[in-house]
Amino acid sequence: MSQGRSNGKFILTNYFNKKLHYLSPIMISTVPQNLLLQNRHRGVQYSQLNTEKFMCGIVGAVAQRDVAEILIEGLRRLEYRGYDSAGLAVINDQHQLNRLRSLGKVQVLSDALDAQPITGGTGIAHTRWATHGEPSENNAHPHISGEHIAVVHNGIIENHESLHNTLVQRGYIFTSKTDSEVIAHLVHWELAQGDSLLEAFQRTIKQLEGAYGTVVLDRRDPERLIAARSGSPLVIGLGIGENFFASDQLALLHVTRRFLFLEEGDIAEITRRNIYIHDVEGMLVERNVQESTVKHDAADKGPYRHYMQKEIFEQPKAIISTLEGRINANSVLIESLGHGAKKIFQKAEHIQIIACGTSYNAGMVARYWFESTAGVSCDVEIASEFRYRTFVTRSNSLLITLSQSGETADTLAALRLAKKRGFMATMTVCNAAGSSLVRESDIAIMTRAGTEISVASTKAFTTQLTVLLIMVTALGKQKGTVSAKKEAEIIRALHLLPAHIEQALMFDKRIEVLAEGFADKQHALFLGRGEFYPIAIEASLKLKEISYIHAEAYAAGELKHGPLALIDANMPVIVIAPNNELLEKLKSNIEEVRARGGQLYVFADESAGFQASQGMTIITMPHVEEICAPIFYIISMQLLSYHVALIKGTDVDQPRNLAKAVTVE
Ligand code: AGP
Ligand code: GLU
Repeated sequence: MSQGRSNGKFILTNYFNKKLHYLSPIMISTVPQNLLLQNRHRGVQYSQLNTEKFMCGIVGAVAQRDVAEILIEGLRRLEYRGYDSAGLAVINDQHQLNRLRSLGKVQVLSDALDAQPITGGTGIAHTRWATHGEPSENNAHPHISGEHIAVVHNGIIENHESLHNTLVQRGYIFTSKTDSEVIAHLVHWELAQGDSLLEAFQRTIKQLEGAYGTVVLDRRDPERLIAARSGSPLVIGLGIGENFFASDQLALLHVTRRFLFLEEGDIAEITRRNIYIHDVEGMLVERNVQESTVKHDAADKGPYRHYMQKEIFEQPKAIISTLEGRINANSVLIESLGHGAKKIFQKAEHIQIIACGTSYNAGMVARYWFESTAGVSCDVEIASEFRYRTFVTRSNSLLITLSQSGETADTLAALRLAKKRGFMATMTVCNAAGSSLVRESDIAIMTRAGTEISVASTKAFTTQLTVLLIMVTALGKQKGTVSAKKEAEIIRALHLLPAHIEQALMFDKRIEVLAEGFADKQHALFLGRGEFYPIAIEASLKLKEISYIHAEAYAAGELKHGPLALIDANMPVIVIAPNNELLEKLKSNIEEVRARGGQLYVFADESAGFQASQGMTIITMPHVEEICAPIFYIISMQLLSYHVALIKGTDVDQPRNLAKAVTVE
């Protein structure tokens, strides 16, 4: 076996001699490690690595030291993704497999580990976001088969039912309700048919349908972990005499900063000294080693109480970084939107936006801009609907996906479908470099918001809107619908935006007081008109996801068609009221609520002429440029939901039942 590095690639050759798999650790340790590590170091590429966000998390380690604490720390760093239960399995010096699982947060598992320490140098761990089987200790991973195989799994095995039936016929007894347990039994079965763990695992993977990241260990082969990536990110962390797997580099920054990123279909095997990666065809392949530039404190809250609060307050800075290099004093720099963007904009006759959740709401705001400012027709659709309906592709239609994580399963599936269905080009507006949407779109425009940890999206939304407004301006410029004067106006508004957001953040204390009025409420209604209607929708999403108050949003003109029936003294109605051409219409809608005794909270432009009165609280906001006003008004809505959640004592950053990125259908 020879190993070395050239052109930044990690090279392993002569692996096809199967026996090399089972070289004893002593034989393996004869590889000149110092040389290897120096060479590795030379091969490192310094780049900003992607911190992909995903549901739940996997960590694995093969080391000479005890790994349980390393695994727990890794899980803690992944906890923001999904968090109903957690578990680990470690092989000790006597080759025994010890497993510990617990319902609830990683801290519960950590406490259990303190009470019942587990030693050993090889282990796997998992935080679970249940898809099949309720959150419980029994359903928590790792799953074990034959008392020697242990498996952790992210994602969904779609054909688990038929695999389950086959395995039951073979005599396997299932101890959980998860789809994941089939992997453990399949590996066990395949191993019993002969060959190495790797081959058994490869045969297992061929039988699985769905999206997954999975890691397996065998107590009888105690210094080896094998993993597969298919639709769910996995990285290898390179240590000195120890190696790791994780679903995100963040989970391993406490032990290494050097990573190999697995690609779709890769199967990788790690020991303390060696790493072997096989691609989807089963061929041994090279992957670049990359040095992480993610700051250690990227996941720290600093002076803030919650990530959500930190991320709300980071918005002025985030938007400055979104704007950088994309606009100058009074014009948009089209080239900065990517090679070929100019041509695409010239040709585009229709925009189709696809997204989910908050990103969808950003798309809804942008629709108003695309049509009113750029004069190009635009449709926006929820990815999970788009992908399953029969649609007609418009001529010269540009597909734009919006996503914080770049891994949302429905959005990704919609993109893949669109590519087959005659769209002129595909663009993504995304916050995660290297994510699937970024890799698979013709053009990717990064939002540059920085890592967003809180499940409730805030800075990703406002930076998406910022990018979209730049795109609208560039498109309008190409089409001749945005004049030089109009362009300069928009650019000026964009330059002023970070300072306006600072102003909005100064309402924090005022909104904190206001939030007290919501603590005992069961429902809330948000109203807006025009592009402030999707802002109202986004505001209601924020409130419901972190405070668990049932909130709805309506286009204010739609009130009289039904929702007015809900209005009484217990219904807070939050109105977004900038001073624009729809103000007088909105005032009439407000009167409709007032006449029925609703509790109004009106966030109004200082020049809108509102007077506080019985049942109507006015929050007077500074005047901002109309085009950027949606980005400005959402800040107060984010603060409102944050403070209501604080009063209600919910888990702000990790609200119940949710995960940071929805990588399953
Ligand atoms: C936002 O607060 C939500 N947690 C959620 O709606 C999110 O925006 C949605 O899942 C889409 O995610 P993406 O932007 O990563 O694609
Ligand atoms: N589908 C698996 C389960 O429900 C894995 C879920 C996850 O990715 O955490 O156990």
